[in-house]
Amino acid sequence: MKIAVIGTGYVGLVSGTCFAAWGHEVVCVDKNVEKIDSLERGIVPIYEPGLDELVERHSAAGRLSFTCNLAEALKGASVVFIAVGTPPRAGHGDADLSFVYMAARELAPLIDDDTVVVVKSTVPVGTGDVVQKIIASVREMGTFSVASNPEFLREGVAIRDFLEPDRVVIGVEDERGRKVLMELYGASLDARITPIVVTQRRTSELIKYASNAFLATKITFINELADLCEQVGSNVSELALGMGLDKRIGTSFLNAGPGYGGSCFPKDTMALLRTAQDYGVAVRIVEETVTANEARKRRMALKVVDALDGDVQGRTIAVLGLTFKPDTDDMRDAPSVPLIETLQRFGATIRAHDPVGMDNASRILTDVEFFDDAYECARNADAVVVITEWASIRKLDLARLKETMRHAVLVDLRNAFDHGFAEKIGFRVSAIGRSTTTRYDTSTSAPLSLPLGRTAKDNHKEIAGGSNDNL
Ligand SMILES: NC(=O)c1ccc[n+]([C@@H]2O[C@H](COP(=O)([O-])OP(=O)(O)OC[C@H]3O[C@@H](n4cnc5c(N)ncnc54)[C@H](O)[C@@H]3O)[C@@H](O)[C@H]2O)c1
Repeated sequence: MKIAVIGTGYVGLVSGTCFAAWGHEVVCVDKNVEKIDSLERGIVPIYEPGLDELVERHSAAGRLSFTCNLAEALKGASVVFIAVGTPPRAGHGDADLSFVYMAARELAPLIDDDTVVVVKSTVPVGTGDVVQKIIASVREMGTFSVASNPEFLREGVAIRDFLEPDRVVIGVEDERGRKVLMELYGASLDARITPIVVTQRRTSELIKYASNAFLATKITFINELADLCEQVGSNVSELALGMGLDKRIGTSFLNAGPGYGGSCFPKDTMALLRTAQDYGVAVRIVEETVTANEARKRRMALKVVDALDGDVQGRTIAVLGLTFKPDTDDMRDAPSVPLIETLQRFGATIRAHDPVGMDNASRILTDVEFFDDAYECARNADAVVVITEWASIRKLDLARLKETMRHAVLVDLRNAFDHGFAEKIGFRVSAIGRSTTTRYDTSTSAPLSLPLGRTAKDNHKEIAGGSNDNL
């Protein structure tokens, strides 16, 4: 089958490459000339484990190619996937569909008869109807199909998620769409392992938002329980395990942390709320999830302030991990950004390390010194804050890290380290969902005191009155 994929971002590039791995002839098209140039030279412009090798292998086999020329990509294609971005509209929170509609307008006069146009981008209910109208304005109805096939891959494990998904969701309005997509997925996936859910287009569009909103709610639930654990002296990791082993609950998405971020959950929960609002329906749980998560991300800075006895003015803080999660270079809506910016507003100097995200981070953050080496990053720091639990960060030698620091304070927002050990070697530890150390190690460091004129309360007040810009 010849397949065209419009948009070679995290989803388009992985999907196109995996379709090629299934033996199809795939052309990936993007407007970004730099991206296409780089892909044509065999350089993958994003960090996704295993993707370089797959792109190289299937390009070399002649099954996978890249172009900026849409007409060339669409020639002879029986399926066209739209995998362009749907970012939040500034100041509104709903999905910006201009890239999807632009792609539909551009492909409409170029597709062959009987082509199935599949929206893979995450789009609000009814977007497929609009895409169909756009194409129908230049082509006769019945000579093409528009289907929905939302993508559920996770950055960092995207290839495995694509090749071995929990399920595939297909939203179709005609037999041609159903037949072609069933052929595409059914031929490569074992139906006994991977169910293919075939629904109406509108239901398929909503399944994606409902899934992401549910997962965001699950994370937020455990985060709020983590706060309770800190107050009552319980341990949230043990709590999550005790809950999660109940099969009805499940252990995944029960890792308490600094609040969810990334390119999907924040924007998709907001977009779902906008859809619900438009239709006069209240989805209060999702509303509360969004509010609680935003407040949490801001509050994480206070955790750092508290760990430094109430003030970070003039303090040096080493941040380990910047991307919104490990194994990606994606900085979209990463919790590290509001945390660092808040600490900077409070007068802290920030040094930062991330295994792959520093290039992208340096385009967003200002006045941050970046270090390739985590130990160098921690040199003379008053505290180390772990925001993203990369394997290389988890493996750091805490004793060596402590030696380089001015004060042995560890704020572990991912519970990435063995806190008992950290405390044993003299760290003062602040973690998530565990009662924090009150003891302060004086052997390595001068006492931490509040500078005159600023109190811990001042900082709390400033945060509490912070803007809701991220919502
Ligand atoms: N990133 C994820 O983990 C993930 C997971 C599941 C679903 N999604 C959804 O998939 C969609 C794509 O996300 P992404 O992260 O891959 O986006 P992205 O921003 O990484 O990539 C989008 C690409 O589309 C290109 N593009 C835009 N308009 C175009 C046009 N008219 N013609 C050709 N190329 C065009 C852009 O240049 C860009 O390279 C979004 O709707 C997103 O919500 C993302």
